[in-house]
Amino acid sequence: MTAPRAQWGSKVGFILAAAGSAVGLGNLWKFPYVAGENGGGVFILAYLVCVIFVGVPLMAGEIIIGRATQKSPVGAIQALTHKGSFWTSFGWLSVAAASSLLSYYSVIAGWAMYYAYLAVTGGLTTAGTVYGDVFSQTVASGGLSLSWHLAFMGLTIAVVLGGVSNGLDRWSRILMPSLLVMLAGLVVRSYFLEGFSAGLDFSVGIRPEEFAASSMLAALGQAFFSLSIGMGTMLTYGSYLKRDDDIMGSTLQICALDTIVALLACLVIFPIIFTYPELSPAQGPGLLFASIPTGMSQMPFAGLLMTVFFFLLVFAALTSAISLLEVPVSFLIDRFGWERRKAAAVAGTAIFLYGVPSALGGVEGGAFFGFLDQLDYIVSNFMFPLGGIGLSLFVGWRMPDEIRHDHFLSGSKFKVFYNVWLTLLRFVVPFGIAVVFLNAIGVV
Ligand code: TRP
Repeated sequence: MTAPRAQWGSKVGFILAAAGSAVGLGNLWKFPYVAGENGGGVFILAYLVCVIFVGVPLMAGEIIIGRATQKSPVGAIQALTHKGSFWTSFGWLSVAAASSLLSYYSVIAGWAMYYAYLAVTGGLTTAGTVYGDVFSQTVASGGLSLSWHLAFMGLTIAVVLGGVSNGLDRWSRILMPSLLVMLAGLVVRSYFLEGFSAGLDFSVGIRPEEFAASSMLAALGQAFFSLSIGMGTMLTYGSYLKRDDDIMGSTLQICALDTIVALLACLVIFPIIFTYPELSPAQGPGLLFASIPTGMSQMPFAGLLMTVFFFLLVFAALTSAISLLEVPVSFLIDRFGWERRKAAAVAGTAIFLYGVPSALGGVEGGAFFGFLDQLDYIVSNFMFPLGGIGLSLFVGWRMPDEIRHDHFLSGSKFKVFYNVWLTLLRFVVPFGIAVVFLNAIGVV
C-alpha cells in the first residue's frame, strides 16, 4: 500500500510555487539584457507571442501529464504507455536535466547568498571596495564557493523535506510575495534615478531596426528558459494538483507572473546601469554581482539597497531550486517507495557532490576550470530542448486522447480552446523548439 499522493495546500500555493520555479536569474538579468540587444519593445512583443503560442501550450501539457498520472516524470510516462516504452526516456531525461541544472544553479545561488551575507554584515559597503574584484575573488576561491554551495543546498533540502503542503507550498507563499515586494521597492528606487529614462529606453524602447530573425530565436529561447518548461518540473508540480483545478487558467496566471517579474526587472536594472557612466550592460553574472553593487554603493542607503537586492536573488533562486530538487525526490519516492526524508537527503547530497566541480571550477588552471559553463552549455542546448520536444510530442500525439481531453476540460473556463491548444502542441511547439535547438548548435 502506498500513501495517497500529496497535494497542494491551496490553489494559490500551486500557482505561487510554479511561478517561483519560473522566476529566477533568467528574469532578473537575462531578460532585460536580451531585450535591450534585440530591439527593446519590439523584442518584448515577440517574447509575448512566444510565451502565448509556445510556452503556455507546453506548460499546460506538462501539468496535464503530471495531474493525469499523479506521478513524477518517469512513472508518469510509463503509466500512459507501457514499461520499456521509448517515450519513458524523456522522463529519465527530465530527472537528469533537473539534477544537472540544480548542481550548478546552487553554486551561483551560493554566491548570491554570500553577497547577501556581506550586505547584511556591512562587508559590501566598506570604502574603496572594487566590486569586480570581490566577484572574481569569490569565484576563484574554491573554499568560499563550496561552503556557500553547501549552505544553499542545505536550505533547499530543508524546504523539500517539509513536503508538498508544508514545504513547497508554505515557503512559496512566503518567498514569492516577499520577492514581489522587494522588486517593487527597487523599481521605485530606480524611478528616481537620473538614468531612468535612458535605462527604460534601452530595454523597452521600440527600435524595430534592431530586430532581426535572430531576435525571434532569442525570444523563443528566452521564453522556454524563463518558463522552466521541458525539464519535468511543471509535470512534477502538476502531479500534486487537485482533480478539479483549472489547468489552463493556472498556466496563464503562472506565465503572467513570470512575465511581469521580467518586465519589472528591466525597470530596476537598466536605470542603475545608465545612471553611472562607468557601467555598461555587460552580459553574464558580472552584471548582477559587480555592476549593480557598483551603482548601488553610490546611492544613499547603499547597504540596505544591496541587502534587498541580494535577498531578492536568493529568494528567486531558492524557489527555482526547490522545484528542481523535487523532480529527483519525487522520482525516488515513486520508484523505490522511499520516505520523503530519505529521498530528499540522498538526492540533495548527490546533487551537492555533483556541484563540487562547478564550485571549484573558477580556479584558473585548476582541474575543473570552466566546468560550470560546459555543463550549462549541455543542459541549455541539449537536455532542455530535447526534453521539450519529447514532452510536447508525447502530449500532442501519444497521450490517450480521452485523458488529455478530460484533464484540459475539467474545471476549465478555457474549454473552447482545446483544439487550438492541441494544434499548437502538435506542430508549433516542437517545430519552434527544434529551430531554436538547431540554431544553438549552429546548424541553421
Ligand atoms: N526559469 C528559471 C529562470 O528563469 C530557470 C530554469 C529553467 C528553471 N528551467 C528550470 C528553474 C527548471 C527551475 C526548474 O531562471
